[in-house]
Amino acid sequence: MDNRERIDTLERDRILPRAELEELLQAYSDGDRLYAASKARAVADAIFGKKVYFRGIVEISSYCKNDCLYCGIRRSNRSAQRYRLTEDEILDCCARGYTLGYRTFVLQGGEDPWYTDDRIVSIIRRIRRDFPDCAITLSLGEKERGSYQRYFDAGANRYLLRHETASPSHYAKLHPPELSWEHRMQCLRDLREIGFQTGCGCMVGSPYQTAADLVEDLLFMKEFRPQMIGIGPFIPHKDTPFREESPGTLRDTLFLLSIIRLMLPHVLLPATTALGTIQEGGREQGILAGANVIMPNISPPQVREKYMLYDNKIGVGDDEVSSRDRVARAVESIGYEIVVGRGDYQGGMEDD
Ligand code: 5AD
Repeated sequence: MDNRERIDTLERDRILPRAELEELLQAYSDGDRLYAASKARAVADAIFGKKVYFRGIVEISSYCKNDCLYCGIRRSNRSAQRYRLTEDEILDCCARGYTLGYRTFVLQGGEDPWYTDDRIVSIIRRIRRDFPDCAITLSLGEKERGSYQRYFDAGANRYLLRHETASPSHYAKLHPPELSWEHRMQCLRDLREIGFQTGCGCMVGSPYQTAADLVEDLLFMKEFRPQMIGIGPFIPHKDTPFREESPGTLRDTLFLLSIIRLMLPHVLLPATTALGTIQEGGREQGILAGANVIMPNISPPQVREKYMLYDNKIGVGDDEVSSRDRVARAVESIGYEIVVGRGDYQGGMEDD
């Protein structure tokens, strides 16, 4: 098969054998990438129309007990500025976000033990009570199943937990020994069984990643059938062990977005902040390659520079109004429109 045939097969069958996927990723031209993007965009347009779902992200804490080698808020980064938002501050972000049209709130943070399950449950209950028409998405890392169940029972709907890499040996190169690939995968299975709309995902171009690793990621995604997938380029952070590593590329990320859209037509697929960070206009290109979600920041301006997972993150000087306006204009500039609404997963169980 040549690359065009591989892309045509992906479009038709929604899957490609491992060896073919690997060849496709190993050597593709910009023509191949644009060919895949136009097919991926057509698939997304047929399902979602010219619409992009908006989610407001509240970065609730920059404290983290973990020490992931790539991440700027890792525990052993003594230069990281730490903060955590109070319950009232989080509710205030949601209220401002609601006024701006957000109907999904994503609470994301480091794994911060200050947020006990009782505190998280209390926050979820208040958001659920004050904004009954909104979806609550959590992105708070690995927990025990009982904790996830409590969050779900309190009214949370979705959970994002990137698997980071589907290869156990690659996982071990990105994480300290106390973090295990098995536990992360167990968390994802627990989340799905509990009934969360679940998101997995990985970085593109993370250190030591090979084309074969990315193929494992794609095959894992296909098999796991998540409702959401978050991918973005790895970007080095100056105060981490990976400070000298090369970043992931825009073109690889765009190509993977298109392949994912072809494999999982209904999946909710964000054009991430990291994509907008490696290149101006990266998120717009992400939409044109098949993404259909954007997650602008609705965190308070004074904490934004402290939630630095990687260098030069965009939006740090903005507030919730300017972040939204900037992204809205960008989306409209490419002929797309923002949806006010929860934007739940619409897929069936059979095809994807
Ligand atoms: N570059 C890009 N993405 C990163 N993340 C963490 N550190 C980096 C980095 N240096 C991603 C991880 C994590 C998500 C919240 O952010 O994939 O799951």
